[in-house]
Amino acid sequence: MADQIKVAIDIGTTKICVLVAKQVGTDFEVLGMGKYPSEGLEKGVVVNIAKAINSIKAAVKEAEIVSGQQIESAAVGISGSHINSLNSNGVVPINKTGKVKQTDIYNVLEAARAVQIAEGQQILHVLPQSYAIDGLGNIQDPLGMHGVRLEVQAHIITGSVASVQNIISCCEAVGIKVTDVILEQLASAAAVLNPDECQLGVAVLDIGGGTSDFAIYQHNSIMHTRVLPVAGNHFTHDIAVGLQTTLSEAERVKHMYGLASNNSNNNFSFEVLDIQGQNLQTISQAFLTTIIEPRAEELILLLLKELETYKLRKFMTTGLVLTGGGSLLAGLPELATRILQVPVRLGAPRTEIVLSENLSNPIYATGYGLLIHVFKTQSKSNLNLVDGPTAVRIFYRMRSWVSDLF
Ligand SMILES: Nc1ncnc2c1ncn2[C@@H]1O[C@H](COP(=O)(O)OP(=O)(O)OP(=O)(O)O)[C@@H](O)[C@H]1O
Ligand SMILES: [Mg+2]
Repeated sequence: MADQIKVAIDIGTTKICVLVAKQVGTDFEVLGMGKYPSEGLEKGVVVNIAKAINSIKAAVKEAEIVSGQQIESAAVGISGSHINSLNSNGVVPINKTGKVKQTDIYNVLEAARAVQIAEGQQILHVLPQSYAIDGLGNIQDPLGMHGVRLEVQAHIITGSVASVQNIISCCEAVGIKVTDVILEQLASAAAVLNPDECQLGVAVLDIGGGTSDFAIYQHNSIMHTRVLPVAGNHFTHDIAVGLQTTLSEAERVKHMYGLASNNSNNNFSFEVLDIQGQNLQTISQAFLTTIIEPRAEELILLLLKELETYKLRKFMTTGLVLTGGGSLLAGLPELATRILQVPVRLGAPRTEIVLSENLSNPIYATGYGLLIHVFKTQSKSNLNLVDGPTAVRIFYRMRSWVSDLF
């Protein structure tokens, strides 16, 4: 695989999406995409290794055919309810010269890692929010500055070591070396947010199939992250149960007639197959909405609780951006605006590229964001400087990348 060719794999709950791109000047061009329905994953976590491997293999094969490239390595996304986060701070004396060096920054981030974490969890990212020197704060990059005492405020992300290892093992079983494991909401944010939003303050919610991944940015730093356990598949499941129909029929109905909230225009009916897939039943859109609305409210209320528990509103200066396939449910932005009382917009990757499908669709936010990540951070990669097995080297690598994105 030529040096300037990079690959991103979004291992989602509903689909595996493999994107192959090549460097063009300071930007990149997508050469091909492979997409395959995801099996063996639930809520972002591998539950059946053999099935997950098969799905990844099929998506990789398609991407190889379409792009004409052989895929040997890739960056992959990670999500799931095993991901947790907390804020921490660290303090260290600055080296004898009195001028901050890279090693001081490393040491202060190490100091910020000294937090209690649950058993079976490991720190995945230590994301600096701001630094202070001798008590003077709000420093974004302290390198080269003078003082005696360096402090950092950091956002720490932890995840189950076993879950990350399973994702890496699935890729390795397909013959792919994993060069980076990236928290999915950080990738999605890179694809759909604009630099001003990240500077002024914005929240992003990637509503996938199994989980809804939430992140808040301000001053180009991550202020908060959370994985919420409600997403698109829950809606489909509710519809299948509520209408006594198959999951595939429920999925179709959700796309075509689904509404997050009742309005005066939904007074028509449509036909749906029964659970045996044989007889048609007539359903009103108003009835369908009574099934969908409580779940949509549950999701947005979970977000509201998160905003209030952690006092996050102050960071959401420019509002909330919804992305991921689940954000395509009609009426969801309006419902979110009503409940949260902030501006809400839909976010899709900012690209015009059309392959077999238009990548400018919220379902490709994570995959496209992973590509942005690998191209923007490749020159700063320190992965090869760290010894040890792939998983250990990746944990090390994941600490530094986020500040490079915006
Ligand atoms: N037009 C649409 N209307 C409503 N829902 C939609 C639409 N298109 C896709 N979805 C829903 O989006 C979800 C899939 O989104 P996405 O592809 O972002 O998930 P994923 O990345 O596979 O999952 P996860 O991120 O949770 O691992 C499915 O539940 C699907 O039903
Ligand atoms: Mg996803």
